[in-house]
Parts: sequence; structure tokens; C-alpha cells
Amino acid sequence: MSDAALAFDDLAARLKPECERIVAQYEYPRSALLPLMHLFQQHEGYVSRDAMRFAAGMLGVTPAVVESTVSFYTLFYRRPVGKYMLQVCRGLSCSLGNAGDIMAYFREKLGIGHLQTTPDGVFSYEEVECLAACDRAACMQVNLEFVYDLTPAMVDEMLASMRAGTYAVAPMVQTQAPPPTWSVRPDGEVSTGRKAPGATGVQSPDNAGGVGDAAGLIMLDRIVNRDVAFYEGTRERAVRDSRAVAEVVASEGDRAGH
Ligand code: FES
Repeated sequence: MSDAALAFDDLAARLKPECERIVAQYEYPRSALLPLMHLFQQHEGYVSRDAMRFAAGMLGVTPAVVESTVSFYTLFYRRPVGKYMLQVCRGLSCSLGNAGDIMAYFREKLGIGHLQTTPDGVFSYEEVECLAACDRAACMQVNLEFVYDLTPAMVDEMLASMRAGTYAVAPMVQTQAPPPTWSVRPDGEVSTGRKAPGATGVQSPDNAGGVGDAAGLIMLDRIVNRDVAFYEGTRERAVRDSRAVAEVVASEGDRAGH
């Protein structure tokens, strides 16, 4: 058994009484899924595949059910991340509240982009959908704690105090060194290798749902080819996705003998 597996077994044995206490609070065991995942994330610094398998066994659900739930929320990190997980909202209200400039400023100051971690392992950066604090736009979460009414000056202060170890929010636990990016690939055990049941014709598990099906094509045609205003991050994503669509359409055409 690997060191990591042994370390997880120790952690699971230590947390089991707390897990049982949490599960007992709910009428249906599967209702305890999110609290259990938060508990493991607090101790591992992210939600490992071992933690997902452990929760599945305890709650009587399949690992796929756990993974599909965990992967839905940006509250859970499925790869080791930096000491400070910076998640800036790119939703509509925040975009109207200058989130585009804030995101560009973070990228410039950190020297990394969406879903990346700085080489020193201190910062991970992600642009996320609405955080449900639209009245305090532009906003973000730092290790899941809210920061409201962002300005570039606040970003400077925040990063300086994090580097100095004086920031008000505690750093994440790091049980493993974070990789440069935390994009998630299937390992054939927890993940089935498929994503987004609504998307048809999507072969690659790294291809986000909606890209490759008819609805996705129509939507991307509107986004990419028509005159729609975007902030930088969204434009970047749309352009990347449109390439994926072109590949899918070409491969579908090849298969159909066109
Ligand atoms: S759009 Fe940013 S919190 Fe809702």
C-alpha cells in the first residue's frame, strides 16, 4: 500500500466518529454527502478520490454519485491547491461591477491564469460562476470566505498580507504539493470517463458538457460569430470551446463519411 493510501486510512479512521455523527443528523444518509466532503477537504486541503470512495461506502451510494455531486460545486477542489484558493466571480452582476478588470489584475499580479497554481504553491486562481453575493459585486472567495466590493487596491493588499502570512483567512491545509493546474482527468475507477449526460457526440472527458451537441453549437455560434461584448476571461473560454466544437464537428463528419 502506498504512503498516500496509508495516510488516508489513518485520516479516515480518525474522522470516522465525526462522519458517523454527521450522518446520524440526517433522515437519509446521502443527505450528509456535502458536509462529509467539507470535512475531508478541511483535513486534506482538497477532496481526494480516496475521500470520495470512503464517503460513497459510508453513504451507500456509488462513487459516481459522489463525484458528480462534488464536481458540480466550485466549493470543492478535486486536486491539491495552493495555500490560498482565490475564486473570483465572473457572473453577470460582478461583470457589471468591474469583475473583468479585477480578474485581469489578479492574472497580471499572480502571473497565472484560470485553474492554475503559482510555482511556489501559495496561490491557486479560478474564475467561478455566481457566488450568490450579487449585491456586493465584484466579489470573490478566499478559501471559501467571502471578500466583497473588490478594487485593485484591495487585491494588492490581500496578496501582500497573504505572502506575509498575516491575512485574516487561514491558509488551506496542504497534504500534497499542488500541481500547476488542477484540471481533472478520469482514472477509470471513480469517474466513468463521461461527462454531461445532456451532451451528445462528446468523446473527450475533458470536453465540457454542452460543447459538441446541437444546442452547444448554436450557442457558440452566437457567442463567437456575432457581436456580443465579453470580458476577457469569458472571451478566452469561448474561443477555446469553439476550437473544441470544430474538432468534434470534423471528427463526426469523418465518421459519417462526409
Ligand atoms: S454575479 Fe457575482 S455574486 Fe452573483
